[in-house]
Amino acid sequence: MDASQSFYPKRQPRYIADRGCAFYVDPVAQALMLEKPLSHEVPAAPEFGEPTPIEASPPTLAFLARRRSASALTLTAPGPNEGQLSTLLRLATRVPDHGKLSPWRFVILKDEGKARFVAGLEAIARARTDGERLVAKLGKLRTPPLTVAVVSRAPAQGDIPEWEQRLSAAAVCMTLIIAAQAMGYGANWITDWYAYDIDACALLGLREGERVAGFVHLGASAEAPLERVRPDVGALVTEWSG
Ligand SMILES: Cc1cc2nc3c(=O)[nH]c(=O)nc-3n(C[C@H](O)[C@H](O)[C@H](O)COP(=O)(O)O)c2cc1C
Repeated sequence: MDASQSFYPKRQPRYIADRGCAFYVDPVAQALMLEKPLSHEVPAAPEFGEPTPIEASPPTLAFLARRRSASALTLTAPGPNEGQLSTLLRLATRVPDHGKLSPWRFVILKDEGKARFVAGLEAIARARTDGERLVAKLGKLRTPPLTVAVVSRAPAQGDIPEWEQRLSAAAVCMTLIIAAQAMGYGANWITDWYAYDIDACALLGLREGERVAGFVHLGASAEAPLERVRPDVGALVTEWSG
């Protein structure tokens, strides 16, 4: 199937010149980039066993070409509401998962609960020799209206290596970021000291063998993030020749 037969068959693509570089912008992609937040209505998941044809999605390509995380310190209310969060988690868990183990879970941090979590972290930080530095880092957690802690669950014993189960949690983080940004929200994947501190992890409710894959911060983006340095991908690619 080519792009003209794809999900948005009737729309006329437009081409926009930006700093000498022309790129394709479908009206839907333009809405994704310029207007927010969008409706959170997305198609229902396919039924088990239902065919899911591969369809080209130029809007997705255009979106990925310019996708950018927002600084957590610029994220403000309103964040995703209950329905939107539920949709985001549904989309975020459509990730490769070797062995279908669902080796991840979520802890939602918002409102009063989040305030108490941050206060608890502050108490932990103040007991440390570098407490001031640690407390200062809590702004990135305190500021956004909604944070999803993506937890990599204790590895299931069996044939699937732990590494692969942890990687699946990373895939969840990235998919959550993309889905939230596609919904028009700013998003940022952060770990910081409280993802590794044993007392902080206990405060979050982590169990034996669990790890924080990421704190994914979500909210309205108060300012457009500036493009960051990107790698020269060509320098990172080799073709195996034996
Ligand atoms: C696993 C992981 C942990 C990260 N932890 C932090 C962090 O603690 N502090 C930070 O400023 N950025 C952290 N980052 C980087 C942010 O996500 C950063 O904003 C991101 O690289 C922006 O890139 P993008 O615009 O391509 O999404 C982390 C990224 C990853 C993948």
